[in-house]
Amino acid sequence: MFMVNSIGKKIRTCVFISGRGSNLKAIIKNSRDYNFPAKIVLIITDQPKSYGLTYAKKYNIKYKIFFIKDKNLFEKKCLYELKKNRIKLICLAGFMRFLSKKFIKKFRYKIINIHPSMLPKYKGLNTHKRVLNKKEKYSGCTVHYVSSTLDSGKIILQKKVLIQSNETEKSLQKKILKLEHLIYSQAIRKILN
Ligand code: GRF
Repeated sequence: MFMVNSIGKKIRTCVFISGRGSNLKAIIKNSRDYNFPAKIVLIITDQPKSYGLTYAKKYNIKYKIFFIKDKNLFEKKCLYELKKNRIKLICLAGFMRFLSKKFIKKFRYKIINIHPSMLPKYKGLNTHKRVLNKKEKYSGCTVHYVSSTLDSGKIILQKKVLIQSNETEKSLQKKILKLEHLIYSQAIRKILN
């Protein structure tokens, strides 16, 4: 489904963020492994105050801030940078905007995302709260290809966690986020190796 990394070169990758960037941090750290198939060469954010930019600076990775409301213009700027930097894989990590059909089509099977639930269950926001309200036994996280329907592309990898009887939104969020930091990089290995 993805291009095969046959010549042993790392795939030039861009991570899109909007906020904290803890998944970005985990991916950057893992990508420093000699055998990791992707190299993070660009970070794009739509929020100038994204904490995740700290990691761009710390690890000396090129970043672009596009604080632009207009979707067309935002995507135009992104496309320019993606092309200029020869990006072959886009990882959405806490990126809070919808990309247009047109944009996604340009990078078919080259955009992936992480979502804090066991998709196809609990698409969208406030997943932990909804999971707890429904008294689910398990929750988890999913890395999937991005399609034009929200949180609905083909699943690459997912891991589940058991929900304890005294689980709170906060404890569940913490537990799942820790797992996200593991599986995002595993999913990248899976599609590129
Ligand atoms: C994560 O829970 C991710 O699953 C969701 O947004 C959150 C981003 O966290 N899409 P971070 O910015 O990577 O810390």
